[in-house]
Amino acid sequence: MPRPTESPAWHALQKHRQQLVGTRVEALFAADSKRAQTFSSQAAGLILDYSKQPVTAETISLLCALAEDAGLKARIDALFLGAKLNFTEDRAAWHTALRAGQAAPEVVKQELARMEVFSDALRSGQWLGYTGEVITDVVNLGVGGSDLGPRLVCHALRGETQGGPRVHFVANADGVELALTLKEVSPATTLFIVASKSFGTAETCANARDALSWFHAASDDIADRARHFVTVSANATAPEQLALPPENNFALWDWVGGRFSLWSSVGLSIALAAGMSTFRALLSGAQAMDAHFHAAPLRENMPVLLALIGIWQRNFLGIGQQVVLPYSHYLEHLPAYLQQLEMESNGKRADSQDQVVDYTTGTSIWGQAGTNGQHAFLQWLHQGMARIPADFILPLSVPLQNTEQQRFMAASCFAQSAVLMSGFDGAAETRLPTHRQLPGNRPSNTLLMQRLEPKNFGALIALYEHKVFVQSVIWDINAFDQWAVEHGKTMASGLIDEFSRGVVGKHDPSTRRLTELFLNRANMSGQSKK
Ligand code: F6P
Repeated sequence: MPRPTESPAWHALQKHRQQLVGTRVEALFAADSKRAQTFSSQAAGLILDYSKQPVTAETISLLCALAEDAGLKARIDALFLGAKLNFTEDRAAWHTALRAGQAAPEVVKQELARMEVFSDALRSGQWLGYTGEVITDVVNLGVGGSDLGPRLVCHALRGETQGGPRVHFVANADGVELALTLKEVSPATTLFIVASKSFGTAETCANARDALSWFHAASDDIADRARHFVTVSANATAPEQLALPPENNFALWDWVGGRFSLWSSVGLSIALAAGMSTFRALLSGAQAMDAHFHAAPLRENMPVLLALIGIWQRNFLGIGQQVVLPYSHYLEHLPAYLQQLEMESNGKRADSQDQVVDYTTGTSIWGQAGTNGQHAFLQWLHQGMARIPADFILPLSVPLQNTEQQRFMAASCFAQSAVLMSGFDGAAETRLPTHRQLPGNRPSNTLLMQRLEPKNFGALIALYEHKVFVQSVIWDINAFDQWAVEHGKTMASGLIDEFSRGVVGKHDPSTRRLTELFLNRANMSGQSKK
């Protein structure tokens, strides 16, 4: 695979950037009365307006040429065929197969059917706890991809969720998140989902052990446990590790990456909270985005355009951050979800030849639900010295919201992106002092969906998944591994071992001192006074 920097399009884009320096996006609007329509894309129930980005038709053509040179079309085909794109782990990244409907592999259909039987039984009160009571609460124990996706979706779809148990999520292994959750539930009416693809993740294993002891204090009968604990794992030994029967495991496969797994059994909490028909609607929305991504020409392809705009910002405009502002309380977990999706996927420096790349990769993602973000960091976006792009995401209507509230959210969202672009110096009236001026020319995308419902929401998540994949193809990196995180986990387990033995191992001087401070924590204040 030739380096992206060797592509003629890369050089053309560098030159093109020089030509655009100093051009304000407002000037591009003034020169093209159709810009708002032209620089927009529509697919799977979503509209993307990227007209406020510092791009021209030539920018998009050159970026598409860069994608062609990277062999993007063939790589998209390979993704849908389940090719082993995760080349450092010799695995496929075939999350699209999880939502392929009738075309899905048989194992996927079977597992969906099992989820359906189980979620129907639990929601209808046929699956009972050990005292014969109905299950009222579900606690999902998982972290990273085994937590963020289902947590995001359950919260996003809460407004229309009817019946079914309350669903709680516990990811942190600090013991506090679990303890606070357990205060709200009772052993006789709670089901735990221990979700871990590997079933080797320290946080989840620790929380599962603590949840088992809590349950054990109420009932020590092993048969009772099987009514209150299920596992979701690609590791066939998972149920056995918790002394559960094999049928208590919901499977996924090594070709499903953790951060792409919410469409698999990892979504069991979604099916339990909202019902299987909602979960299937979510899958069908993602499938609609998949179909668009697979078939649409690059120039009209929404995930491709979103990715290419990111490449333009990262590699040619030198911008390394991206703010996500979903204008809905329901979407408050979206920034955290996208953080893992984008940063764990594309925070890489080795290319397909295992060489360190000589261009920047990955983008730092952060954000908060609007309008709360407006009262936290929008000031910095408007008047700070950095020029950081924002993705504004607005469902035009959401459950439990009246017309006035809809108007408020839309007005707030559109006002921020308009002012980020146009700025304000009061020139038309009396010119304002510098501290009141807003420079403008700050880029943003706006993504609209008519209503926040499972189908549209599935499409939105799939859109970002494909964006990440497209960027990884252009950067020639593997979006589907996470070796750094694995190494951190190994180091932490070594330290836990040292802590339990009360010894300090061979570490750098800072880590040694921190370890000593931890081991002598009872005396820490005394030491710091020395
Ligand atoms: O954070 C690292 C990671 O490996 C993620 O990729 C994954 O989603 C998470 O840990 C949890 O892994 P598992 O589902 O195997 O417990």
